Amino acid sequence: MSATRTYAMRLLDGAWPKDIHGHHWINGTGKRLPWQQHSIFAPGVLQRFDLQPDAGGELRWHVRDTHAYDVQAALAHPEVFEDPRAFQVLGGPLLTGLNNSFFLIEDRVFLTADFNRPWEIDPQSMQLASVVGRVREWGGASRLALLSPSVPTSAHPYYDRHDGLLYNYACRVVPRDGTSLAHTERPLRLATWDGHGAVRTWEVPGAGLTQYVHEVGATRNFVLLLESCSFQIEPGIEWLGLPKQAPHLPVSNVYVVRKADLTEENRTRGVPFTKIEIPLEAFHLLADYEDDGRHVDLWLTHGNGLDFLAANTAADVHWKSGQPFARWQLDRFINADYTPVGHYRLDVARGRVAASERIIDVDRLWGAGVWSWDPRPANPADSPLYMSWLGYDGGLVSRRLMDLYGDRPHRVLPPHQVPEGVFPPVLGVIDWRRKDVSQTYVYPAGTTTLANQFIPRRGEAGGWVGVYLLSPKRDVQYWLFDAARIPAGPIARLGHPDLRPERTIHHTWTATAPRRSATYQVAIADDLGDDWRHLPEPFRRVVETGLRCADVG
Ligand SMILES: [Fe+2]
Repeated sequence: MSATRTYAMRLLDGAWPKDIHGHHWINGTGKRLPWQQHSIFAPGVLQRFDLQPDAGGELRWHVRDTHAYDVQAALAHPEVFEDPRAFQVLGGPLLTGLNNSFFLIEDRVFLTADFNRPWEIDPQSMQLASVVGRVREWGGASRLALLSPSVPTSAHPYYDRHDGLLYNYACRVVPRDGTSLAHTERPLRLATWDGHGAVRTWEVPGAGLTQYVHEVGATRNFVLLLESCSFQIEPGIEWLGLPKQAPHLPVSNVYVVRKADLTEENRTRGVPFTKIEIPLEAFHLLADYEDDGRHVDLWLTHGNGLDFLAANTAADVHWKSGQPFARWQLDRFINADYTPVGHYRLDVARGRVAASERIIDVDRLWGAGVWSWDPRPANPADSPLYMSWLGYDGGLVSRRLMDLYGDRPHRVLPPHQVPEGVFPPVLGVIDWRRKDVSQTYVYPAGTTTLANQFIPRRGEAGGWVGVYLLSPKRDVQYWLFDAARIPAGPIARLGHPDLRPERTIHHTWTATAPRRSATYQVAIADDLGDDWRHLPEPFRRVVETGLRCADVG
């Protein structure tokens, strides 16, 4: 079991506000297991920054590896995975990587992955506490998997405070026609969970996804599932270590289900759906909670030609020069087209896009990244969106990436064109009503940033935006902006010389980090049954270790 590493942050310049409070959480991928080819598969690293000084006046930053029971078992017996049968009997090379994002149910904190079930943590100790839902509650796993049954769920399920329900999805992934190395079939199941009882699922007959659902949204009347781009795990990648074969879809599909159809009767019959196609790939979705029963308004972050599984390798060459990449350019990814954010009004009854507007600012805003918003209004549409643009470096674009994504329908840029040069990352504020960017701050050249989290001011409107930032020298810094004065730059910068740069994917904010009080508990041993006892050694020993780790937490 890993330990939490804690650092006392030092003020580099500016002044730390006295009235700031709560905790900025960051999730991302850690060190890859020996057989994992892509960092997106790696076990997670969880970080929590306590925004209020402790009793000794120190601002504490905590880092912890979130190794689930199966990862701990694999790390304890790495030699077993030299035998290819290990992947077959133990559940595949991915294992549980809780490396993506969060969801919150009141003061409860959950970690998510796209390839597996969510887990609840103890917010105070940051330890894993319980997996969410037995495998059979989610509708089962795709294949024989005695240690780590694969149940894809969304990295961003939607907790609806009005309904007291978490909306999520699940599917059983199979190679298309049983033979494809590049394409999968994913019959869709919609899932709900009340935080205490069993996960409930509904089949959505006819909604056969070919990609995963990275984000789920909800409005008063509808649940929205976004069929997402960015990392389609192909059968050949997962099981044979092949390189990426096929590009993701050139469109975004939004599957809309009426909440009123989520009845007990329809659990056996299935629920109807409307599929609405939006040109351009996307990975994040955020909807205006208020709908008129027919239309839905939402934002999408587009991810045209952005593919984490096509990150640069030593075998890749630059798309124009034909030169191999330098060491610092390996394992980096970049978009092969301009990626805007778009606002869409969907006509659910007619199954079409009624209106669309995109924010396209090619000279300034590159690489639509991750947004956050004020969590206090019940409707996200009542808050501005604090948005990170990741920037762009034309020196990172590979020939492989352009072969996959350089000539697709619906590109923003002309075919086979991306700019040369470098665009630094930008923090921007999207005004939901004006459908425009109302404030921007351009980060210094050479910096890398992602986790821009809105932090509400206690008892008053407004607040701050906290940013995890890597300096050009790869030092970790924490920059704090006044949310009302983003262009003025950070009001405080913090750092610690021993804080190691981590990949950051997603982030959240909580007012408190209490000891977990929920009693919800799913026993991993329940999922596994008894059949694993018939395994030959050394596989049986790995499962035994896994179960021992699951008991300890
Ligand atoms: Fe995400």
